[in-house]
Amino acid sequence: MSGKKLVAGNWKMNGTGADLPEVEAIARAAAAHSSVESALCLPATLLDRAVRAAPGLAIGGQDVHGAPSGAHTGCISAAMLVDCGARLTLAGHSERREAQHESDADVRAKAEAAIAAGLVVIVCVGESASARDAGHAVATVTAQLDASLPRSDGAAGLLAVAYEPIWAIGTGKVPSVGDIGAMHAALRQRLVAAYGEAGETVRILYGGSVKPSNAVEIFAVAEVDGALVGGASLTAADFVPIIAAAVSGAG
Ligand code: 13P
Repeated sequence: MSGKKLVAGNWKMNGTGADLPEVEAIARAAAAHSSVESALCLPATLLDRAVRAAPGLAIGGQDVHGAPSGAHTGCISAAMLVDCGARLTLAGHSERREAQHESDADVRAKAEAAIAAGLVVIVCVGESASARDAGHAVATVTAQLDASLPRSDGAAGLLAVAYEPIWAIGTGKVPSVGDIGAMHAALRQRLVAAYGEAGETVRILYGGSVKPSNAVEIFAVAEVDGALVGGASLTAADFVPIIAAAVSGAG
């Protein structure tokens, strides 16, 4: 990786207008820690207001449809995200892969749609507890990545990958630093296989129970180029120390 670490919050289905002061506080801290790129992926209903309240902070969506427009009730297109002032989006979060039955092919289409609109896209991958226990974690996640990666021209320039073990999300459990390092190294190999030299520049984030208490240790792992943070991104009190931990681990 070259460049700054990326620390992105994923608010999931949390947040209303009453929480905009938290967005503003996070934006102020992000501006004060400019050696790190910070972002918040918010509920669609907050995007426009958050962009207005915190114009300096990268605001993103949590999902995007693979089609440019059409009969897709309840879905959001890449052009709609751009229209709100969003600069990025997640694609293929495990909660959507499971609950909305999104396939790797769906995730690839979403990533390609985001890139075509000029959005940065964070493609999420991660193994279940049973795959980890069976010793198949790396094989499972690299296969998922290969099948989910956008193939559009120049895709690597707008891409980040988040490795989020499903069993680590919201549980307080985190893989060992050795397991995180081994997975990120395997993902790096797949990115280089897909994109050549440009694959070296794609940031690989770790996600799953990242907290102020473990962020320094996680950011110190080779090939960890940032974090995707759920619960601890909901308040400035928890999220800002994670951004600060990425500063210490910057470069
Ligand atoms: P937690 O940080 O709450 O474990 O969530 C991780 C996640 O799913 C971020 O996308």
